[in-house]
Amino acid sequence: MCGIVGYVGKHNPKDFLLEGLKTLEYRGYDSAGIALKNNEETQIIKSVGKIKFLEEKVNNSLLIDSKIGIAHTRWATHGAPTENNAHPHCVGKVTIVHNGIIENAREIKDKLKVNFNSDTDTEVAAALIDYYYDGDEISAISKAVTELTGSYAFGILFEDSDKLYAVRKGSPLIIGINDKENYIASDITAIINYTNKYILLEEGEIAVLSAELVKVFKDGKEIKKDVIIADISAEAKSKQGFDHYMLKEIMEEPMLIENTLKPFVEDMSLIPDLKKYSEIHIVACGSAMYAGMIGKALLEEKASIRVICEVASEYRYKKVLYDKNTLVILVSQSGETADTIAAMRKAKEEGADTLAIVNVKTSTIARETDKQIFIEAGPEIAVATTKAYILQVAIFGLLAYKAASLNNLADEVKKLPRYVKEILDNRDLYLKIANEIYKDNDVFFIGRKTDYAICMEGSLKLKEVSYVHSEAYQAGELKHGTISLIEDGTPVFGIITDDDIRDKTISNIEEVKSRGAKVIIVSNKKVPGYDMEVIVPKISEFFQPILVVPCLQLIAYEVAKLRGCDIDKPKNLAKSVTVE
Ligand code: F6R
Repeated sequence: MCGIVGYVGKHNPKDFLLEGLKTLEYRGYDSAGIALKNNEETQIIKSVGKIKFLEEKVNNSLLIDSKIGIAHTRWATHGAPTENNAHPHCVGKVTIVHNGIIENAREIKDKLKVNFNSDTDTEVAAALIDYYYDGDEISAISKAVTELTGSYAFGILFEDSDKLYAVRKGSPLIIGINDKENYIASDITAIINYTNKYILLEEGEIAVLSAELVKVFKDGKEIKKDVIIADISAEAKSKQGFDHYMLKEIMEEPMLIENTLKPFVEDMSLIPDLKKYSEIHIVACGSAMYAGMIGKALLEEKASIRVICEVASEYRYKKVLYDKNTLVILVSQSGETADTIAAMRKAKEEGADTLAIVNVKTSTIARETDKQIFIEAGPEIAVATTKAYILQVAIFGLLAYKAASLNNLADEVKKLPRYVKEILDNRDLYLKIANEIYKDNDVFFIGRKTDYAICMEGSLKLKEVSYVHSEAYQAGELKHGTISLIEDGTPVFGIITDDDIRDKTISNIEEVKSRGAKVIIVSNKKVPGYDMEVIVPKISEFFQPILVVPCLQLIAYEVAKLRGCDIDKPKNLAKSVTVE
């Protein structure tokens, strides 16, 4: 959600900045802009829509010679996605790019009495920094940020300075280190082609970058920061010949399942013991929350632990009752989702233990939780999560397995990568199913218990990448209202992997079939009387969802492709949702 990249060094930064923006495209955006500066002037160029439009404009009209610049992809919050509202914003001597939301922008605006050119909170922040600027950049930034509420990562240029400034709260920002050039970026992928060395900027710190040096200040004093070496390669973030990142990332699942689970299979003592808790709260957003729903079902059914699974945006504001022995599990690919971070901080304030199931090791959630399990997915570039979700589900399988006091883990897990690979190889079948449903307007997914949690993810995947309206329902609940929407030919996916309620779900599927539904069965056993079906191998219930969801991911992918959608960057969506 919004991408920032900045450069100071020995070259003209134009190409670096445009390339960086393209790398950050996956975060979601609707407009983009760039600012380049030299001793005489600052030139700002912006455009609505894809970065290629910005690139065309830059190539036609970027004239100044420069060695310092900032650039931004904007996902609109305050104000429509127009050129005027796109960043960078310049007020007085200050030019900034911003990721986040300034919640008190209205009050500051009233106080400043500046003529604003945009509807954005960012321009207000620029004006506030300019208001405090009297030649001391660090002092102006610190005075301004103490007045701001909300979240921000700022890249800042001052007219009188040849340095690049950065500060953050809530939204991510890293400082890349190289020989005679340094960078700022929303994440490491934007700079990995240039350097793998970076510094994590913490809240309350201000970074000052020149070509030779990076200095970080806290409370007016310079502090020492560790330089981190990123362990991702430039290759890991390429498409490697696949048409889309989404497809590439789905195809990585067998290898990643093996790599992620291996250490735990070899040494089960690495798996946290959840039995010592009287209550567990699983808190996350979107797909990560649906992975948590599978965790809840498994932990309750198999280990008899009381579990609440809640959307983070609700959890953070509602009255939550904490038992004195509560564990809060935060699930997040990025580790930077604003609502999940707020939920984590609330849990810590209440004295609960916190455990993260997270992909990005340097993220806020990874750094602030008591314990972490890393899912080792590598960079996930497609906006819709696939591989990270599967690994989150795999980790919940492990946690439930250990909590159920079982110890045959190696046998259960050994077959997983091979089975997932076989499932992924069955692409003709998914394309055939996609062909049957891609012209439909409404699709339903029904199942019970764990199968219902699988339905939630199958349905979300389909709607977000293909823009087909879809709903997931507990199979038994459909007839309490929603069944009125089932017409001749309405596609209904029936997910049945749980033997205990198999017959019940089949009865519900019969109910929709007799009302004309086009039924697609996804099961680990043949259901007589249905032709359109995906049959996956039957394995331990702890890991069964891992064999079902990849089929639904590929069906969603094929439907999106048939409908000509922008699969890796669906409209209105952002990869890392850093505002609430
Ligand atoms: C859906 C999707 C989102 C994320 C959600 C949480 O495909 O990707 O629903 O799962 O925004 O993001 P993280 O896991 O980064 O906290």
